[in-house]
Amino acid sequence: MAEEELDAFPFPLRPDEFGTSVEQHRRRRAECPLGEVALPSGDPAHLVVAHQDVARVLRDRRFSRNLRYPGAPRMVREADMNDNPDAIINHDPPEHTRFRQVIQQAFSPSQEARWRPIVQGIVDGLLDRVAAAGPPADLVADFAGVLPISVMCALVGVPAADWQLFHDWTAVFFAVDPAALEERLRANREFLAYLREFLEQRRKAPGEDLVDLLVTARDTEGRLSEGELVQLVSALLIGGQENTASTLARGVLALLRFPGQWALLRDDPALTGPAVEEVLRFEVPSEGAFLRVSTEEVALSARSVAAGRAVQVSVPAANRDPAVFTDPERFDIRRTANPHLTFGLGAHFCPGAPLARLELAVALRSLADRFPGLRLAAEPSDLRYGEGNLIHPLLRLPVAW
Ligand code: HEM
Repeated sequence: MAEEELDAFPFPLRPDEFGTSVEQHRRRRAECPLGEVALPSGDPAHLVVAHQDVARVLRDRRFSRNLRYPGAPRMVREADMNDNPDAIINHDPPEHTRFRQVIQQAFSPSQEARWRPIVQGIVDGLLDRVAAAGPPADLVADFAGVLPISVMCALVGVPAADWQLFHDWTAVFFAVDPAALEERLRANREFLAYLREFLEQRRKAPGEDLVDLLVTARDTEGRLSEGELVQLVSALLIGGQENTASTLARGVLALLRFPGQWALLRDDPALTGPAVEEVLRFEVPSEGAFLRVSTEEVALSARSVAAGRAVQVSVPAANRDPAVFTDPERFDIRRTANPHLTFGLGAHFCPGAPLARLELAVALRSLADRFPGLRLAAEPSDLRYGEGNLIHPLLRLPVAW
C-alpha cells in the first residue's frame, strides 16, 4: 500500500478483531514508519511505529507535552485534557519534575509490601463472589473491570460506597467522539466537585493514605497548587483504572485463546512475572501514550520530523517490532527478553507501573490457582472491543471452569 493511502487513515486506527491494529502497524513499520494520520480534530500527526523511534520520541525533550499555545496541534477540536494546565502529564521538565517528586514518595517500589495484602484481599473477595455465583461468569464485569478502581480507591482512601461512581465517570474520560463531549464534560465536572469535597473532608480528618501525603505536599510544604493537588488525585484514580482493567481482561483472553499458555501459567508459578510482561507487551489497549509536539526539527530513523508537528507514538506497534522481538506476533509467556514500551519511557514513565504489575501478577496467579480449568465460554470471534475512544477495552469476557 502506498504511503499516501496510509496517510489518509483517521486516528484512532480501527482495531482488528482482537482490539489491536496489528495489520496497519505492520504495514506502517515496513512502508512508512513516519507516516501520517488524521487526528479527530482534523489536524495531521506523524504516527511513529518503530521501537527505536517510539523510544526516542518518549525520551527526547524536544518532543513536548505542552499543547496549550495558540495554534498548537489538537487531538479533538473541543476542550480536552491536553488543555489542562494543572495536570502532570501536560508539563515538560523542569516544571514537570516538581510533580514527579511529590508523586514519587507515594509510589516508591518499597510501598509494594504495603499494597500487596490490600490487592490480594480485594482479588480474593472478587473471586469468592465469582466462585459462589458459579459458571459462567463475565470476567470484565465481575473481576477485571472492578479490581483496579477498587484498589486505587482503597489506596487513596475513597469510601467503598463510592467506587461505582468513579467507575462510571472514568469510563467516559477517554472518549474522542464529539457526540460524547457533553457526557465527558459532565463527568469531569462531577468528578472534580467530588474530589474537592473529599479533600476538604480529609483535611478535617486526616488519615495515613496516599492522599494525605499529597495534601501535606500542598498544605504544609507548598509544593502544589490546589488545582494541581486535585488533578494529581484525579490522575491517579483515572490513570490507575481503565488501562489496568483493559490490560487484565485482554491478558486473560490471550492466555485462554493461545494454545497451551493457560496450562503453562497454571502449572508453573515462576511464569507469573514473565506472563505479566508478555500480557503488557501484547495487549496494549490503546496507542499507548499521549500526543507530543516537536519543538525543533528532530531526525528519526527514516527521516526528520519538522518543528511544530504533532507526533503520536504507537506503543503496540513498537511492541511487535521484529527488529527487537523474535517472532513478535507469537504470544508466549516463556519469552525472556521483553523490552516492551507499555509504561512509556523518560520523564513521563508511568509512576503506577509497580502497582499495575502487582495487580496483574496477583490477579493472574489467583485466577490460575483457584480456577485451573478456566476456559472461554464464547467464540473468540464473538467478543467485542470498545471503539470511538482512545482505549479499546474488551467489553465482555465470558468464562466457565
Ligand atoms: C497496565 C496499566 C498501565 C499502563 C499500561 C500505563 C501506561 C502509562 C503510560 C504509557 C504513561 C506515559 C504516557 C506518556 O508518556 O504519554 C503513563 C503515565 C501515567 N500513569 Fe500509567 N499506566 C498504567 C497504570 C497506572 C496506574 C495503576 C497508575 C496510578 C496508580 C498510573 C498513573 C499514571 C500517571 C499519573 C501518569 C502520568 C505521569 C507523568 O505525566 O509524569 N498508571 N501510564
